Order: sequence, then structure tokens, then C-alpha cells
Amino acid sequence: MQLEMPTAEPEAASDTQSDQSSDGQLSVRNASKFFPSLTGGGEICVFRDVSLDIANGEFVSIIGHSGCGKSTLLNIIAGFDEPTSGDILVDGKQVQGPGLDRMVVFQSFALMPWMSAFDNVRVAVRSAFPSWDAKQIAQHTTRYLHLMGLSDIGKKMPAHLSGGMRQRVGLARAFAVQPKALLLDEPFAQIDALTRGSIQDELIRMWDKAGATVCMVTHDVDEAILLSDRIALMTNGPEARVAEIVEINIPRPRTREQLIESEEYMRLRTRILRFLIDHNRRPTAMDDTAHAMDAYPHRDETSHD
Ligand SMILES: Nc1ncnc2c1ncn2[C@@H]1O[C@H](COP(=O)(O)OP(=O)(O)O)[C@@H](O)[C@H]1O
Ligand SMILES: [Mg+2]
Repeated sequence: MQLEMPTAEPEAASDTQSDQSSDGQLSVRNASKFFPSLTGGGEICVFRDVSLDIANGEFVSIIGHSGCGKSTLLNIIAGFDEPTSGDILVDGKQVQGPGLDRMVVFQSFALMPWMSAFDNVRVAVRSAFPSWDAKQIAQHTTRYLHLMGLSDIGKKMPAHLSGGMRQRVGLARAFAVQPKALLLDEPFAQIDALTRGSIQDELIRMWDKAGATVCMVTHDVDEAILLSDRIALMTNGPEARVAEIVEINIPRPRTREQLIESEEYMRLRTRILRFLIDHNRRPTAMDDTAHAMDAYPHRDETSHD
């Protein structure tokens, strides 16, 4: 089925989002983050001097072991937190807190539990397009629920939806706002393997049509290769850094069947897994609960569906 990606009516959106579809370059410049030590006085450097440029419309993933600071970095790009030093730029402008130009999708779905799926999306659409009337907002909401395969569940409350459905609502909400950038923090980690595959396919289809810049945190190598243009490999914390950026030159559209037959895929997979094994974390004072290598090669397949 060929899906039409709706675009915001220019006259309705012009007061808030005139250039949303045209830009979306993210730049992290020499960013470092220190937190107060949890185990005593002083501070701990989570990551140091991280620089990453993500071009408009590019899909970049960040891979690294648990505790290396991936979520912290994403939260800083989102504007929920600030770097201790360094700069975060969107289209060359310094980020000043959260904004609808950067929508975040969390592993934990982060839907408002007292609102239906429809209302979760509608509230975001209303904030993004304040000059629209109720009918325009409802139509736009319906369209995005439909695009994520959710036409029939709009009235349901999040508690009555499977993990996969909840994450579809999260993605519908994020795309409906037509952000410049989508920031995804392990969005499929709590979704069973089969459902995960179909939502990944929908994410890529939506991304392709919307042209949004994506920065996705994951610890799943296969997912990162399937979805990304480039993958930034982070070393372990403390003092984590982006050690390498791997280009994924496998032509799109990519299918899992093609990938497993592809020598390039096996080469990239081996390279990234080798990096992760070489950087297998040793317990540190920063985080003695994370055992990231438990994730390799067997992921936690806990189903919430
Ligand atoms: N608000 C905070 N105060 C102190 N330490 C924190 C805070 N948030 C995160 N950390 C620490 O920073 C490190 C990186 O955390 P996080 O970004 O969640 O890692 P990741 O997402 O890569 O697993 C962890 O050791 C964590 O304990
Ligand atoms: Mg995290």
C-alpha cells in the first residue's frame, strides 16, 4: 500500500513551523557532562568532548554499553538537560531547552495514561499547530494514527494497549508534530522481537516520507545497521567518547533477508560487535548495576505485548 505522508497546511502552520520540513541539522560540539558523584564527593565525567554532526534528514544511531551516557546525551540534545561544557546546535542555533522541533520517543513510551491514544496524539498536534481549528487537529491526528496502523484503537487508553501499540502511538505523536528532529532512546527495547521488526519498518517508512533528522540510541547492533546511515560508537564511561563513526553504505530500502545475505552487513556487524567486546565494561563506581554485555548476543526479549 502506498501511503501519502500528509504535510501541514502551510497557512495553518506558518506561525510556528514555517521551516520545519526544510532544516534539521543537529550538531553536538565538544560536549562534556559531569554529574555529582553518587558514591561520595566530587564529580564524575560521564562523557568528554563528544562531537557529532547529523545532517538534515540523516538517520544516525549511537551505540554503546549501558551507563556510557547515551540517554544523557540524547536528553541534552532534547534540551531536558545541559552539557557542562560544549554546545548543542539545531540548524546552527544554540538549543535553549526543549522544543517541538525535537520530539523524543522513549523506551518507556511516556504516554499520558489518563488520555486515550487519540488524545495523546491530539494534544501534541494542538501544541504544534496552535492556529488550527478542532477539525484540522482531529483530521491530522487521525491521519497519523492511520499511518502507524492505529486506525481502530484511537479510543483505547494506554493501559489497554500492548507495548508495541503504545510505541506506535508514541511514534505517531512524534511524527504528527512534524519535528525537525526525532530523538529515539532505545524505542524498541521493551517490544518483543516480531513486533519490533514491523514497527522498525514503519519507522523507516515514516522517516523516509517525512525527511526528519533522526538520532537514535540503541544497544542493538542489527537494528542500528538496518536503520542507520551512520552509527556512532561510544566507549564506556566514565569519560566516554565517540570513538568511531561507522558509515552504513548498504543501499535502501533494506530488508532483513537481504542483509543477512550481504557480506557488507556481516563485515559491519563484526566490526561493531568487536568494538563493543573490546570495550566491554568493567564495573565502575559510576554504575555497578549495568551489565551491558548481557545484551550480546542475546537481547532481553521480555515481551510487553
Ligand atoms: N542525574 C544524574 N545524576 C548523577 N548521575 C547520573 C544522572 N543521570 C545519569 N547519571 C549517570 O550517568 C551515567 C550515564 O547514564 P545514562 O546516560 O543513563 O547511560 P546510558 O543511557 O548509556 O545507559 C550513569 O552512570 C548514570 O548513573
Ligand atoms: Mg539509556
